[in-house]
Amino acid sequence: MNENKPIKFIDIFAGIGGFRLGFEPVGYHCVYSCENNPHCQAVYTQNFAETPAGDITQIDIKKIPDFSILIAGFPCQPFSICGKRAGFNDTRGTLFFHICQIIQLHQPTVVILENVKHLLHHDQGRTFDVILYALEDLGYQVNYKLLNAKDFGVPQNRERVFIVASLSQKFDFTKLEPNAVTPKLKEYLVETGDFEYLNPEEYTLIENPKKQDSGLIFVGYRNKGIWRKGIRPNTKHLSRVHRQPNRIYSIEGVHPTLPSQETSGRFFIYLPDENRVRKLTLQECYKIMGFPDDFYIHPNSSEAYKQVGNSVCIPLVKELAHQIKQQFFSPVETPAKKEHRQPILVPIQQLL
Ligand SMILES: C[S@@+](CC[C@H](N)C(=O)[O-])C[C@H]1O[C@@H](n2cnc3c(N)ncnc32)[C@H](O)[C@@H]1O
Repeated sequence: MNENKPIKFIDIFAGIGGFRLGFEPVGYHCVYSCENNPHCQAVYTQNFAETPAGDITQIDIKKIPDFSILIAGFPCQPFSICGKRAGFNDTRGTLFFHICQIIQLHQPTVVILENVKHLLHHDQGRTFDVILYALEDLGYQVNYKLLNAKDFGVPQNRERVFIVASLSQKFDFTKLEPNAVTPKLKEYLVETGDFEYLNPEEYTLIENPKKQDSGLIFVGYRNKGIWRKGIRPNTKHLSRVHRQPNRIYSIEGVHPTLPSQETSGRFFIYLPDENRVRKLTLQECYKIMGFPDDFYIHPNSSEAYKQVGNSVCIPLVKELAHQIKQQFFSPVETPAKKEHRQPILVPIQQLL
């Protein structure tokens, strides 16, 4: 294949286009997108000058132009199977079934699916099994791996499961090149902005904070009404109020996963130089997902928080895009032709 020709992909359940931001700079070209949420569509249109098609259940899949890769970060739904391995027919009635129909009709070379870690355990692992089996039923070799954003150059502990299916061979996840060093949250903070600080009486810092294996450093919590109900002395740190979103994190570590359910951006960080606690800004949330500074963000902050929490870590998908190109779309090196060795002609007299 011609290495300079962009590899065509379709962006299904496109959200605000996180996958597209990671794939296009690596030599891919998006030929079709689909997303039914009007707020996501508006952001997508602003950033990519293209409005995605709407509800996947309503589109005419025959009209999707030719492409080599299908990419989808799809919503997780249970499949009501009764133990029968009916292949992709098991997925009927779900959004995943519509992905399968596109795959069956268009037979892309590669399929990339992304989901929350919980997909692995959803419905006691049955949902995941059905997905893998459905892809195999469609003729694909399937592999998957949990990948963490913090291993790909952003200070966020964010695990997502990535499934890569291909018609030719299994994708080798071990070839992905994670970054040697995880950046610290402090390297991603903006210098100026409309910062929202907490008053000192609104939070409590803990003594001797420790870095967790995940890279998070929990340094304190926001004081909540629970104190009024009374709490045993010295057990404050065990209290339910320490659950997200009441925690405060050190900027010397990484940030926890930005969830899609959070619409008011209750993410708090402690700034040791100022000895103050402030909210992570919306702009900083997009930065720790790897979005470029010139990305157009939805003007309504609760929409913008939801959208970033639903999206993907851009440097991670960029590395995936690079490796997919290497493994499935690079011209196979043909072994150098053996030179035809000329017989050494020895004068017959010498052999006698
Ligand atoms: C997990 S998010 C994917 C986000 C995306 N990867 C990004 O970078 O922003 C799933 C998306 O599927 C969209 N969606 C849900 N049901 C849909 C449907 N029936 N048709 C099209 N899109 C749908 C949601 O609006 C949501 O934006």
